[in-house]
Amino acid sequence: MYEVTIEPTGDVVEVEEGQTLLDASLRQGVWLPFACGHGTCGTCKVQVLEGDCDPGDASPFALMDMEREEGKVLACCALPESDLVIEADIDVDPDFLGYPVEDYEATVESITDLSPTIKGLRLRLDRPMAFQAGQYINLQLPGVEGARAFSIANKPTDDEVVELHVRHVPGGAATSYIHEQLTEGQTVPLSGPYGQFFVRKSASEDLIFVAGGSGLSSPQSMVLDLLEHGDSRKITLFQGARNLAELYNRDLFERLAAEHDNFTYVPALDAPEDPASWEGFTGYVHEAAIAHFDGLFEGHKAYLCGPPPMIDAAITALMRGRLFERDIYMERFLTAA
Ligand code: FES
Repeated sequence: MYEVTIEPTGDVVEVEEGQTLLDASLRQGVWLPFACGHGTCGTCKVQVLEGDCDPGDASPFALMDMEREEGKVLACCALPESDLVIEADIDVDPDFLGYPVEDYEATVESITDLSPTIKGLRLRLDRPMAFQAGQYINLQLPGVEGARAFSIANKPTDDEVVELHVRHVPGGAATSYIHEQLTEGQTVPLSGPYGQFFVRKSASEDLIFVAGGSGLSSPQSMVLDLLEHGDSRKITLFQGARNLAELYNRDLFERLAAEHDNFTYVPALDAPEDPASWEGFTGYVHEAAIAHFDGLFEGHKAYLCGPPPMIDAAITALMRGRLFERDIYMERFLTAA
């Protein structure tokens, strides 16, 4: 066991033999910046100031030779070999609650068809998990190498369950297993919570959520959480789907809109099966947002979750409509295969 002191905060974490710096930190509630978690993006780069550290399996593109020589390591790969002092670029958002990552055993309580391509999983945890709406878990599945990330769709007060929306990626080992082999009553290990996609509750601006496909999971958790806590800001959720069959959980949001004056729900279909009978917006979800707000988004914070092309189109629309980068938060939803 080694002690690692993280500057400039002075936090101290204990790292076990063979454990990475990042894993130890997240499990002890000490946040370090990271993204990919496996040595390829470079987001978790830290400087070793004192002590010996094996850089582990860091990609030469994410950690260049020159940086290695300067004593830099990637926290998600680095294995301490003595007590260490490291320096990290920590800029923790005041709204981030930093719940520690833990391992859980989950029992599959139900599997439902949300749409022809998306299943809803409800997993009961062996004990409550504290998380922020918008965060995700890593799920391990039998015969599938490595863990897969899925966003949590339920609200944080339902802390003994985790609900996931899983879109089937044909040929993808994890989502094929979930869609074709996973059964109710089965137990699966998972860890969490992870992620930096959460509502900045200290901001006073009204809120826009733009969700595409199974990227609805995080915005659903966020909207449920805000409404449960009586948030009085105006909240508008735009949900994009290809057609009516893929537009899932519509009843839930229509009911919430009827119950809460400050919540508006706008579904958008880009290829409705029967255009004549579809009374909602026809087009892409960012176009629905432009139409709803006449292209002007000033006075809002926007949270986007969906496939990268949807995110890019939404960012362009929001910035043309006078939002700045600092007003837009996003989770590019690369569905786990
Ligand atoms: Fe991507 Fe460590 S988080 S390299």
